[in-house]
Amino acid sequence: MAYSDNTPPEIWAKATTFFSENKRGYSEYGDCPLPCDDDEQDRQDIQHKFFTVTREDDNQDPGRRRSVNGLHARPLLCNEPPRILDLGCGTGIWCIDMADLYPGASILGWDLSMRMQPKLMASGMQCLPKDITDPTWDLDLNSMDLIHMRLLGGCVSDWCAVYQNVFKHLKPGTGLFEHIEIDYRPFSPDSSLPENSSIEYWTKEVYRAYEQYGKPLFPKDDLPAMLKHLGFTDITHEEQEIPYHPWPEDERLKNIARWFNLSMQSAIPAMSLAPLTRYSNWTLEQVEKLNADVKMEICISGMQESHSCKATKYHTFLLSSWQLRVCKYRSHKAAQAAFWTASLENLAGKVNQRVL
Ligand SMILES: C[S@@+](CC[C@H](N)C(=O)[O-])C[C@H]1O[C@@H](n2cnc3c(N)ncnc32)[C@H](O)[C@@H]1O
Repeated sequence: MAYSDNTPPEIWAKATTFFSENKRGYSEYGDCPLPCDDDEQDRQDIQHKFFTVTREDDNQDPGRRRSVNGLHARPLLCNEPPRILDLGCGTGIWCIDMADLYPGASILGWDLSMRMQPKLMASGMQCLPKDITDPTWDLDLNSMDLIHMRLLGGCVSDWCAVYQNVFKHLKPGTGLFEHIEIDYRPFSPDSSLPENSSIEYWTKEVYRAYEQYGKPLFPKDDLPAMLKHLGFTDITHEEQEIPYHPWPEDERLKNIARWFNLSMQSAIPAMSLAPLTRYSNWTLEQVEKLNADVKMEICISGMQESHSCKATKYHTFLLSSWQLRVCKYRSHKAAQAAFWTASLENLAGKVNQRVL
């Protein structure tokens, strides 16, 4: 079932055009420090691959179920084709994979830019221009089976307001919410990362610029506490360490690091150009110089010490009890249902014992 599009034509017009700044293109609609040009599309698609590789099941450890096809954490709790919303969908690649996974699903992706998504989409999938920080969402309340939000750090100043809307639009009892973020600050357990490294300096300056912008790159609030306060239940927060370089012996981690490293090479300019020039008054030349230094340091091909422990800390919200951050909303009604199921199981157990 298609979602209705009440977007005014002037918003569509803005969302499909971009303005040029420092050799990159930025959406005319909304206020976002990330570009929406062809390079950004490639970057986001590589980043999506990084996430699916990171989240897919571990063959070495089959008992440890990480996610459903590397896309979301917990199995959906609905008996009919699901209704799914992706906040800040970017190129729409997650929605496309979800449409393949759930034929018949109604999948809606919202983003400020409508330049990055394919023209032809699977039936049931739609991308619409929407500022997710708008107080009104113009969607049926209590209607979504899954709401997904990945890497909106640096784009949101009031997480509580966004979470409130998520809460209002999830199906009571069964609706699930996943929020995934990366904390880009590198850390090095064996202190092999020098304090004066370019990557350390880059991260500090970029974080400072996003602070000045009023939208921290990594949320500073206690998000699990905020979710709890809003009424979400079954909240799980998990973190996973992602190696910056493929230094680990473990093949799975090595592969994750390869994809992360590749995605960071295009993320370095994408994430820093607008914040440093707009909010920290750097010149384009200064940013380019620092970015070139960082690339020399992180680029796999230029890496001398393959065992140097340059890792980044990776905080996410995911819907799985196994990994990263997990949030699940359950209404009182569902809690009761779960209680009754548990009671019936207990009863069945007792009956079985008697029969035995
Ligand atoms: C880092 S990208 C992540 C894209 C996608 N979630 C993914 O993980 O592949 C952030 C996206 O959020 C969009 N965005 C930023 N601020 C937004 C807002 N206020 N409302 C809707 N989309 C926004 C940007 O246009 C960009 O496509």
